[in-house]
Amino acid sequence: MNLLELIQTRRSVRKYTGEPVTDMDIDTILEAGRWAPSGLNNQPWRFAVIRSKETKKRLAVATKYSTIILGSDTLIAVFLDRLVIYDKTKDAQAVGACIQNMLLQAHGMGLGACWLGQILAKAEMVRQAIDAPENYELMAVVAVGHPEPAKLIGKREELDKLVFLREKIQ
Ligand SMILES: Cc1cc2nc3c(=O)[nH]c(=O)nc-3n(C[C@H](O)[C@H](O)[C@H](O)COP(=O)(O)O)c2cc1C
Repeated sequence: MNLLELIQTRRSVRKYTGEPVTDMDIDTILEAGRWAPSGLNNQPWRFAVIRSKETKKRLAVATKYSTIILGSDTLIAVFLDRLVIYDKTKDAQAVGACIQNMLLQAHGMGLGACWLGQILAKAEMVRQAIDAPENYELMAVVAVGHPEPAKLIGKREELDKLVFLREKIQ
């Protein structure tokens, strides 16, 4: 698959087979995240890798997407380290790039992943549940697992609707 195909075929995967994901695969996903661009190269992302039933249960009560949390093999909680922030918008964008890198890497390895943002409504509950430092602000939880076979349809607006200015080469 070329890069565009990889991007276009990635879907949010919310159902998993239960087959274990190896530590090495999780490390590869984190590695992709770590190589995201960031303003001033400040690399503001921090990660917690959650694999135990007990911790998943503590996170599940913080979101209406508890089924995804409990059904996943691994959760990667992604935080922004407030101590290294230089511009809140740009730092949040960098963490977004980091998360997308991880989603694409998971997809490229045949794994399924889902970016969970609704859980941010209970960000402090999550932070305390995993004993993250106070200066770590939750940005997302990424659920990872082997995808249950399913035809997941992607839907996007046509480019014509999105590009509002397209100058021609002179
Ligand atoms: C910032 C953000 C927050 C999201 N939060 C959730 C979430 O809480 N629960 C969920 O099931 N999917 C969540 N998603 C996944 C989106 O629903 C999904 O990316 C979108 O519907 C497009 O589908 P696709 O990823 O399969 O292309 C989130 C995605 C982003 C980027």
